[in-house]
Amino acid sequence: MVEEEVNNLTLDDDDDVVDPWNVASKSETGIDYDKLIQRFGSKKIDDEIIARFEQVTGKKAHHFLRRGIFFSHRDIHSILNLVEAGKKFYLYTGRGPSSDSMHIGHMIPFMFTKWLQDVFQVPLIIQLTDDEKVLWRDIKIEDARQMAFNNAKDIIAIGFDPSNTFIYNDLDFIGQCPAFYQNMLRIQKCVTFNQVKGIFGFGDSDVIGKITFPSIEAAPAFSTSFPFIFGDKVVPCLVPCAIDQDPYFRMTRDVAARLKMPKPSLLHATFLPALQGAQHKMSASDVNATVFLSDTPKQIKNKINKYAFSGGQATVEEHREKGGNTEVDISYKYLTFFLEDDERLAEIKKSYESGEMLTGELKKIAIDTLTPIIQEYQARRAKVTDEVMQEFFKLRKIDF
Ligand code: TRP
Repeated sequence: MVEEEVNNLTLDDDDDVVDPWNVASKSETGIDYDKLIQRFGSKKIDDEIIARFEQVTGKKAHHFLRRGIFFSHRDIHSILNLVEAGKKFYLYTGRGPSSDSMHIGHMIPFMFTKWLQDVFQVPLIIQLTDDEKVLWRDIKIEDARQMAFNNAKDIIAIGFDPSNTFIYNDLDFIGQCPAFYQNMLRIQKCVTFNQVKGIFGFGDSDVIGKITFPSIEAAPAFSTSFPFIFGDKVVPCLVPCAIDQDPYFRMTRDVAARLKMPKPSLLHATFLPALQGAQHKMSASDVNATVFLSDTPKQIKNKINKYAFSGGQATVEEHREKGGNTEVDISYKYLTFFLEDDERLAEIKKSYESGEMLTGELKKIAIDTLTPIIQEYQARRAKVTDEVMQEFFKLRKIDF
């Protein structure tokens, strides 16, 4: 039985791609996320799950759940069952640090993670995979470490609290924590080269570090990797992440069965599209396609006015007559991510689609919505000193 589950790791030939952005069907309206669910074999977050979330937490579901921005899951019911039984779990997420300043798309999983942490009052572990970037890119170890520390500050500024959040970078942490390395090794012993080839598409010319890396991203999903936080307690784990990280956790879940550890549950996010249109992913390397967390109000305004793909018509007359298309309009899309007020959003949709609201007016609303969010973020970011950061990095017990 246990053997069988691990063998299931070998996926079909055409599943050997780690980046869903490349495998997904895309159209003018963006990625077909339902197809991605079918392909990955995860489950859709439907109305029933949202209702259960609300019933268990006694709180209104986050608008990312209500609007399908977090759209897919694995085994979220076991986490909700635990909560109902008065038991605890922990959250684990991460980021591969990059030199570029973080953009608003990077914020999405972390904003949602913070909400989950507030609602459930559980510890959160954030892994910064500076080692991953050394292996995958032409980056020196020292530079990758530095990027991890800078990105840690960017993440902390989203609003995390050191009393229940532990952040670490792999390059410094793994040598300090024998239990982590031991779990890595247990995981490495459960997965063959054939299996990682099937899941991640590694080939003969990939460096061997890449082949073991999945064990490093998997290990934090087991509470025994962090004895200074959890002692020897086996605590189940929930991983909020963008859908492109799913292959790591498909692997982790199979390994968990073999190690007789709880399988991590998952909540998957869609991607925030680039300014240029829903068929492009927001990417830090394309400055004009991207709103950065470090942008000034003027830059935000210019970028949206100049580059945000519009679903409006060519002329005002035509627009009044036919109305705008909110399915492809990027300013509207951003509002679905950043404007919390459902009623206001519905009014905007109606007014734009009827032709009453013009593209310029919609863009202004998007600018006026994003700008204060980014300014407030920047004010928090300015307060994250080295000392503040070190609080999050300390190996310590976390009460929960
Ligand atoms: N591999 C991820 C990236 O490149 C970083 C990461 C590590 C992560 N652990 C994670 C992301 C857990 C989500 C959940 O960004």
